[in-house]
Amino acid sequence: MPGARPGGVGVAVVAGAVVGGRRRPPRRVAVGDGRDSRRGSCARTHVRSPLFRAVTSGIIGRDGNGAAWPGRVGRRRAARGHGREELTVRHSDGNTIVLIGAGEVGVAYAYAIVNQGLCDRLVIIDIDERRAWGHVQDLRHAVPWAGHQVTVTTGTYDDCADATLVCICAGSAQKPGETRLDLVDRNVAIFRDIVSRVTATGFDGVYLVATNPVDILSYATWRFSGLPANQVIGSGTILDTARFRSALGEYFDVAPTSVHAYVVGEHGDTELPVLSAGTAAGIPLRTRLAQSPTGEQDVTEIFERTRDAAYEIIDAKGSTSFGIGTGLARITRAVLQNEDVVLPVSALLDGEYGQTDMYIGTPAVINRHGVRQVVELDLDDTERERFTRSAETLRRVMDAAGLGEAAGE
Ligand SMILES: NC(=O)c1ccc[n+]([C@@H]2O[C@H](COP(=O)([O-])OP(=O)(O)OC[C@H]3O[C@@H](n4cnc5c(N)ncnc54)[C@H](O)[C@@H]3O)[C@@H](O)[C@H]2O)c1
Repeated sequence: MPGARPGGVGVAVVAGAVVGGRRRPPRRVAVGDGRDSRRGSCARTHVRSPLFRAVTSGIIGRDGNGAAWPGRVGRRRAARGHGREELTVRHSDGNTIVLIGAGEVGVAYAYAIVNQGLCDRLVIIDIDERRAWGHVQDLRHAVPWAGHQVTVTTGTYDDCADATLVCICAGSAQKPGETRLDLVDRNVAIFRDIVSRVTATGFDGVYLVATNPVDILSYATWRFSGLPANQVIGSGTILDTARFRSALGEYFDVAPTSVHAYVVGEHGDTELPVLSAGTAAGIPLRTRLAQSPTGEQDVTEIFERTRDAAYEIIDAKGSTSFGIGTGLARITRAVLQNEDVVLPVSALLDGEYGQTDMYIGTPAVINRHGVRQVVELDLDDTERERFTRSAETLRRVMDAAGLGEAAGE
């Protein structure tokens, strides 16, 4: 599905918002609302005023405060002699993100959103309204120094109606000694309630799910919402992949951003690293590991530390939050900025890796529509066997939780 890319600064050439594969009706807007085009959807309007002529002839444009600036598109059109044609400009509503669940994870996400300026409006909902109110006040005090104008408010489910993205971090978290899969019954019940309320508003944007067990709850969200699967993304193995890349970066003495390796499968105890498709500083991991007599053993230990990191962090500080909060923000940026970037997420499989009808961790192309495409890595035989085992584990839990074909009814 082709994504509509946000246009250049100030004036964009796209009509209507394109969230969820459906085009929203264009809105009439003021001329030259030149707010950062990364963040909003666009609209088309016909203007025949002197101001319009001034803009299209390249004399003036307007920035977000209404101040004049030299009109970029206007100049281009004037040069082509198109001064009287229709002008396409952004509307001023921008993007709204609704965060449901302002616990440790949700707040780390909200803080990343504010610091990175990823949306125009961030609405926070939590059953603990007092706690949500406190976080909103605190986050507002981060805005003046964050360098981006983000309006942070408490809200209700009605705010989901026009939201671009709803991120769910609500639910029970692991207690020391609990696995992620132990949380399933409690959190499926919470999600049934939350998703039905969001659906009732007519929400047609992208869901981003973080609550554990994330693969199962992403599947439940897809089923409960009735939206196309591309509009439901789970955080999947984005955190595990960050942990793995970080540890491999240390091992090879390069920045984690110079390591390209994925953790796939269940976000949990059966996940696996894909060494066969990994590189560090551009050199295949297998090649690098073969250069050291302890290479294979070392990488096994690195992965086991990655997989078990959550248990150690929860023992030490009660929760994990910054890694996942930033990972969620990275996925959000890919959606809102229509990036077509490949990220490790939880997505619905439809034959990839020999699996169907389940959400599980895999790389996928992420853009304004959510999951544009699942990327099926070329796993070796051992990796494929481990992936199958991971999928079977998830399927057993889904079946026990009564999820599957009938869950959407
Ligand atoms: N996907 C990942 O990689 C990842 C990483 C860490 C944690 N998690 C998961 O994220 C979830 C949240 O973890 P946390 O540490 O923030 O937990 P937390 O207990 O600190 O926060 C949960 C929040 O959800 C709220 N809540 C509960 N039910 C709600 C409802 N029906 N509506 C609105 N709000 C509701 C609670 O009031 C609380 O503020 C857990 O399931 C945890 O396992 C996922």
